[in-house]
Amino acid sequence: MRFFATRFRVAEIQRRGAPNQDPSFSLNLYYYWKPIVMKTLNVGLIGYGFMGRTHSNGYSQAPHFFTNEYRPVLKAVCARSEDDMEAAQAFADQWGYESVETDWREMIKRDDIDIVDICTPNHLHAEMAIACAEAGKMIVCEKPLAMNSAQGEEMCQAVEKAGVKNMVSYNYRRIPAVTLAKQLIDEGRLGRIFHYRANFLQDWTINADVPQGGAATWRLDAKSAGSGVTGDLLAHCIDTALWLNGEILDVSAVTETFIKERVHSDTGKKQPVTIDDACNFFCHFKNGSLGLFESTRYARGHKALYTFEINGEHASIRWDLHDLHRLEYFDHRDDSIVRGWRNVHISDGDMPYMDHWWVPGLNIGYEHSFVHQVADFLKSIETGEAFHPSFRDALETQKVCDAVLESAAERAWKNV
Ligand SMILES: NC(=O)c1ccc[n+]([C@@H]2O[C@H](COP(=O)([O-])OP(=O)(O)OC[C@H]3O[C@@H](n4cnc5c(N)ncnc54)[C@H](O)[C@@H]3O)[C@@H](O)[C@H]2O)c1
Repeated sequence: MRFFATRFRVAEIQRRGAPNQDPSFSLNLYYYWKPIVMKTLNVGLIGYGFMGRTHSNGYSQAPHFFTNEYRPVLKAVCARSEDDMEAAQAFADQWGYESVETDWREMIKRDDIDIVDICTPNHLHAEMAIACAEAGKMIVCEKPLAMNSAQGEEMCQAVEKAGVKNMVSYNYRRIPAVTLAKQLIDEGRLGRIFHYRANFLQDWTINADVPQGGAATWRLDAKSAGSGVTGDLLAHCIDTALWLNGEILDVSAVTETFIKERVHSDTGKKQPVTIDDACNFFCHFKNGSLGLFESTRYARGHKALYTFEINGEHASIRWDLHDLHRLEYFDHRDDSIVRGWRNVHISDGDMPYMDHWWVPGLNIGYEHSFVHQVADFLKSIETGEAFHPSFRDALETQKVCDAVLESAAERAWKNV
């Protein structure tokens, strides 16, 4: 009965807005002459670590800066079990969640939860997302979508069968400079594209004493992460590349695990390391361009150096996460006496998302990409338009990751 009630509620919301809640009138700053009817959408968060914080900030900030018919309400946050109830309660108090659950299965049964936001380690995404779809909830899921593409396909089928709105948090698409890169490519400014190059470099696992597994270092255990840098870091580069430059046809990859054994946090014993510490791959894109990707956690001096460069017939662009509010642009059609790399500061109101923020010249940062994805997700609920990246979009990235890992294991080119 509860299942049907929840399904009805979400279907109703998706069709014509929240029916069983009192609309509250709020004065909107941008359209101050017209009162906007705000409807609430209740969020249940699973996982209150790094991403739990970025998402909570996104839900909190989006209604202040973007006009939407819907306003997210931080309804419940879920602990792993009774054991971390206190930590979950402290998180709830800090961020303003109204309640705390200790079992995600109980939380998704609640009729007053509309959106479930999955911010847990990768091995939990599939079970949680499929259960949420069956309970008729809208789903926000962290990346990578799944442990592999077979599991990702099951997740896609579950959300499509249930007809629930879904999104995967490939947030870099919504950094204004990256969104502007997409605009420049779609306008044809680069012309035919020849090269796509991306790196994601970190250095936090160089020390052999860093343990694997457990709550803090689950990323170093393939049982909870699926893979190492491929699913963790390259997945971001691949999602951006598919979005900016289209389909990847085939890949040739090498991976390396530099430190072969580490103490496992769960057992206290040294065990073989099962993840890739570094991964490089070449690929062919469907548009005829060549791709070159590199990722490692052993690049001393780099904390989160995500960069890409795209070379086209007329122009090139490059972007660097450490300087995320700038987009570099070179246009060969400029007069030769002033031709050179332009360093465009993304802060004017005619640049993506920037009309919602401060005044020209003032930067925004990393956290704003999560605000943008909440705002766009709410807008897509309001308009009924598809949201991207959806589970189906994220499955394409998962397929590339699978092909990369297979290619490295078999030392052979692999079709995606
Ligand atoms: N979009 C991005 O840029 C980005 C960045 C970092 C992480 N991620 C992804 O976000 C997800 C979470 O990563 P993180 O860095 O926030 O990890 P984290 O370790 O900081 O947080 C994980 C959370 O999951 C909770 N959790 C673990 N098992 C649970 C269970 N059985 N039931 C309920 N809660 C459980 C933990 O208590 C913790 O609060 C991963 O899938 C990761 O790949 C994405």
